Amino acid sequence: MEPMRPVIIAANWKMHTTPADAGRLALALADATAEPDVVRVICPPFVALAAVRDALTGRDVAVGAQNVHHATAGAYTGEIAAAMVAGLATWAIVGHSERRRDAGETDAQIGQKLRRCLEAGLRPILCVGEGLEDRDAGRAEAVVRDQLEGAWASFAAGSPGEVDHDAALATRLVIAYEPVWAIGTGRTARSADAAAIARVIRATLGGWGWPRGVAEAVPVLYGGSVTSATIDPFMAEPDLDGALVGGASLKVEEMAGIVARAALTARARRAAS
Ligand code: PGA
Repeated sequence: MEPMRPVIIAANWKMHTTPADAGRLALALADATAEPDVVRVICPPFVALAAVRDALTGRDVAVGAQNVHHATAGAYTGEIAAAMVAGLATWAIVGHSERRRDAGETDAQIGQKLRRCLEAGLRPILCVGEGLEDRDAGRAEAVVRDQLEGAWASFAAGSPGEVDHDAALATRLVIAYEPVWAIGTGRTARSADAAAIARVIRATLGGWGWPRGVAEAVPVLYGGSVTSATIDPFMAEPDLDGALVGGASLKVEEMAGIVARAALTARARRAAS
């Protein structure tokens, strides 16, 4: 039988909000999206993590970082290590396409970031996704597979003397499929295409030697111009388990609609299980 995967809606605020206004927005989002069947995560800028954490006390909403560095500590001016985020957040976005593009993040570094997340007790949302040229050339699946395999190779290599985190990764990992051409463009992927990639993702994880059924239980989210008006076809795909939301996650009304729609799927899954 298929494992029952949670439905997750994660908000990626990107470089928006200040410590002064983030707490208020987080609280308004939490109260407008109170659906017990949906796992909610808010990822504000680093400097607003404490304000958001404090604002969400007593609310069932997790806080996530938007990135962590691939090293544990060291001479990396301006960077933030996973261990520094522990206590402020319990999740972290890793390998977002904007960081691959703007900070030149490699799959090898992203694999190390996964390891750092697990060491710090953070639940990683690993982002993968192809550019438009690759989609048009029929290479989307291959690109996503390569991103996963590249990250896995470096994660699995680890460094000598470290604890083996395979089992932790298998149970904590969330993947966000975000086609680059759909992010912030108002143009979404076709839901059937996103579901096909979700199957490729789980098939790839299935080759990593994890116990049977574990890869099938990894949640796969869709991301890219998700709004309350575009989410429905994605939530109707049994292979997709929610969304990573950028622009619309700063708007309370939008998030209320998105989470309400996701809750319909979450309740239907629970009823069917
Ligand atoms: P978007 O961003 O919803 O604004 O397209 C999604 C993301 O980058 O995570």
